[in-house]
Amino acid sequence: MTPPVLALRNLSVAIQGGPRIVEDVSLDVAAGEMVGLVGESGSGKSMTAYAALGLFPAPRVRIEAGAILLEGRDLAMLSQKEWRALRGSRIGMVFQDPAGFLDPVLPAGRQIAEALIVHGDRRGLAARVRALLAQVDLPESVALRYPHELSGGQKQRVLIAAALAMRPVLLIADEPTTALDVSVQAGILKLLDGLRQELGLAVLLISHDLAIVAQTCTRVFVMYAGQIVESGPTEAVFAAPRHPYTQGLLASLLDPQVRSELYAIPGTVPAAGMSPPGCRFHPRCPRARADPCALRPPVLTMRADGRMDRCWLADAD
Ligand SMILES: Nc1ncnc2c1ncn2[C@@H]1O[C@H](COP(=O)(O)OP(=O)(O)O)[C@@H](O)[C@H]1O
Ligand code: SF4
Ligand SMILES: [Mg+2]
Repeated sequence: MTPPVLALRNLSVAIQGGPRIVEDVSLDVAAGEMVGLVGESGSGKSMTAYAALGLFPAPRVRIEAGAILLEGRDLAMLSQKEWRALRGSRIGMVFQDPAGFLDPVLPAGRQIAEALIVHGDRRGLAARVRALLAQVDLPESVALRYPHELSGGQKQRVLIAAALAMRPVLLIADEPTTALDVSVQAGILKLLDGLRQELGLAVLLISHDLAIVAQTCTRVFVMYAGQIVESGPTEAVFAAPRHPYTQGLLASLLDPQVRSELYAIPGTVPAAGMSPPGCRFHPRCPRARADPCALRPPVLTMRADGRMDRCWLADAD
């Protein structure tokens, strides 16, 4: 059987000598599939993405346990040099703030060309840049424009073109539409979905916004305080969420007029290392019971239908 393009196996990321930021996360993304990773800000989504990219925003952050497999090959032991060769070639990445990743003094076409040049690929650069611009639905004229001459959505498309330059098998998109106007978001999502389909790309789409994942992903993983708390096919999870956290996130999408106070999730995600004992969600959970919720941590459990949840009281309907 073909292995998934990306597989995280029991991945834990920790600050050296400090708390775990990501704990025991397992997920996989197959070729031609878009999988969502959702949760409020501070849940550990970006840390999971960084780990899967061999990048760490702080020098003391390390993979503590688990494996990262790309097409079946374990990446956890790669050297920095090997990681650099992989990023931007087999794995493409797109982040929240397109402006921050573009050089203000270089025209867009040149920046896309750089994505090829850094990997030693200089053949037919101009034609390939044109083809990449077409692939992200930008006119050729964009090649000569500087970042300040482009809209937010166009900048993100330029970065997606650069991410695709080396024909990656996996694209990791961390909040790719968060910095964009709502009117532009749908176009970027449609583009990512089209690329998934046309190129057979595996896409890991990370977002704090459940609505975005609902539109595009076939499977979803819900993250809270560094752990996966629910996963399954998007339609099934959204139609009948089993974890109170997912239920609260979904309710928060409802029109505020309709939304009852009961559903609003009070409080915030605990910072790494500050999670309470028992279920990490219990201080915010409307269904929490002193026993077992505040005493013993629930385990991520697979139900008969293959969906998973980490809740003592979840109904497995
Ligand atoms: N450089 C860092 N050093 C220590 N802790 C960090 C660092 N970056 C993020 N964290 C902590 O890791 C947790 C998860 O952060 P992050 O992955 O950015 O969440 P998300 O992307 O879901 O918003 C948070 O508790 C945050 O405080
Ligand atoms: S284990 Fe208890 S506190 Fe945690 S989500 Fe389930 S009901 Fe809520
Ligand atoms: Mg993030």
